[in-house]
Amino acid sequence: MVAGAAVAAAVLVSLNATGAPAAPVASVAPVAAAGQDAAVQGGNADTLRALAKRAGLKIGTAVDMSALNNDATYKDRVAAEFNSVTAENVMKWSEIEPTRGVLNFGPADQLVAFAKANGQSVRGHTLLWHSQLPGWLTEGVASGDIDSAELRQLLKQHVFDVAGHFRGKIYQWDVANEVIGDNGQLRDTIWLQKLGPGYIADVFRWAHQADPKAKLYINDYNVEGLNAKADAYYELVKQLKADRVPIHGFGMQGHLGVQFGFDGRALQNVQRFEALGLETSFTEVDVRMLMPADNPKLHAQANGYSILLRACLLAKKCTSFTVWGFTDKYSWVPGFFTGQGAANLLDENFGQKPAYQAVKETLALAG
Ligand code: XIL
Repeated sequence: MVAGAAVAAAVLVSLNATGAPAAPVASVAPVAAAGQDAAVQGGNADTLRALAKRAGLKIGTAVDMSALNNDATYKDRVAAEFNSVTAENVMKWSEIEPTRGVLNFGPADQLVAFAKANGQSVRGHTLLWHSQLPGWLTEGVASGDIDSAELRQLLKQHVFDVAGHFRGKIYQWDVANEVIGDNGQLRDTIWLQKLGPGYIADVFRWAHQADPKAKLYINDYNVEGLNAKADAYYELVKQLKADRVPIHGFGMQGHLGVQFGFDGRALQNVQRFEALGLETSFTEVDVRMLMPADNPKLHAQANGYSILLRACLLAKKCTSFTVWGFTDKYSWVPGFFTGQGAANLLDENFGQKPAYQAVKETLALAG
């Protein structure tokens, strides 16, 4: 068993994300700036972030700002277990600009400050989406008060406002989110209807001007294996690259469900995008199930997390693996998928589920 594990570890290490040698585990915590990699410096090597660091991977979570502000255990776990954070909602357009022309960066700035204090990187989410748009925008378009030319100008201004505000503080931006439908065609949204397909290249160019160092991602769900939607992304990205659009990453959200089974070809899919010259990330991983949860479902769930994490660790340029919340206490799943839940690594009492153990063991093998 030990020899087998060592071989598996060697395979994972030789193919790890960065190609860089694994950093040694510090036995004596080095003196460093307050907050920097607190979990490691605190001598606690038994956290996801300590293991991910050795594997050369950012391990992240979406953060619910009201939980962060009101639940000390939640806050403590975010700081201890993760070295990357994503705003679950507070960087979305409806949150940043609920009133036209009045920008509210307060909650997002708070997350960025929290990340800095805890030695964490920040993923930006998201500059362009068809959902969680401000009412004034969607209503203005519907009534005809906002015409196509004005809409394009508003989108451009939004990208410069938001990417510009966080310039230099975001390592990866989900620039365009969910622009292709499950049928493999460009999604039928106000953006496609009013601006035409060129809006996708536009937002990447604007985002690159606003924050030249951030890695710019296109991001979606149901693209974690080989299927028509992932194929459509492959063709779209290939075209964007041919047109010299500044696009750097392919984000696979990873919203899986035990009841659907898992596509075992995640690594193949990741590799074809990397062959186009992109880095890759898993950006919103959770694995839901039909309730009630039971042992077989929880173990199947652990396998779902492992399939995605292994693909990331075995790929050459998979840079981050983010879960969409880490405790069932605050999951978005029950509110969006009737009768489903228990999608996260920890249960509602922050107890470790088989999925947490699987993620930990997989990371440990890679480091
Ligand atoms: C979800 C949040 O988790 C919810 O709190 C919110 O009400 C709706 O959006 N794909 C995405 C995320 O890109 O932004 C979504 O987040 C989940 C699906």
